[in-house]
Amino acid sequence: MIKIAPSILAADPLNLERDVRVAEGAGCDWIHVDVMDAHFVPNLAYSPDVVRRLKEVTSLPLDVHLMMDHPETLAEIFLDAGADSLTIHAEADTDAKALLEKIRGKGRLAGIAIRPHTPLETAMPYLEDADLVLVMTVEPGFGGQKLDEHVIGKIRALRDFGYKGLIEADGGITEHNLQMLAENGLTVAVMGTALFHAENMETCVSRLHAIQR
Ligand code: DX5
Ligand code: ZN
Repeated sequence: MIKIAPSILAADPLNLERDVRVAEGAGCDWIHVDVMDAHFVPNLAYSPDVVRRLKEVTSLPLDVHLMMDHPETLAEIFLDAGADSLTIHAEADTDAKALLEKIRGKGRLAGIAIRPHTPLETAMPYLEDADLVLVMTVEPGFGGQKLDEHVIGKIRALRDFGYKGLIEADGGITEHNLQMLAENGLTVAVMGTALFHAENMETCVSRLHAIQR
């Protein structure tokens, strides 16, 4: 079953607790927290304190995605705040291998992410150190964009290479394209707009969970 990870970027920023509780009640599997530094991406979002408070209001794992040029500056603080998985970008200006080891050292899932136009080869040196590979299916920074279908080939290539870890996609995922992603080996779907704008989130999530790989 594909894990559904609602991105709080698409939630109501003035009602995060309400929306996260709705997502948990609707059967979602993880809560995806998009952290942005207004440098690596042209947007700004979420401090470690938001993760700390979310930890108090949901039992779902917090899947924190650091869209930052220097993730090493805040990684430990996000881990201490309660991040269950912490994903850094292979394009970041940091020692990604050392940081992935540090995340794993704290007993959390370590993730490596690549933007849509970054070749998969950029992520390959980190596969041994990553429990999770996040393939961005939109240019990071904003929700509500259209999924870039060429990224599906990266999911397939990771599986064909023999990568057995989690593969997460993030951006533009809907009920209509999740089947294709699942058939190519996806295991975690980050969804913002399609979930938080659904008529009924619970009905939507049960339909999404029915989609098999
Ligand atoms: C981009 C963000 C989005 C968001 C989900 O940086 O990471 O991908 O989580 O976006 P939508 O609304 O397309 O599901
Ligand atoms: Zn994300």
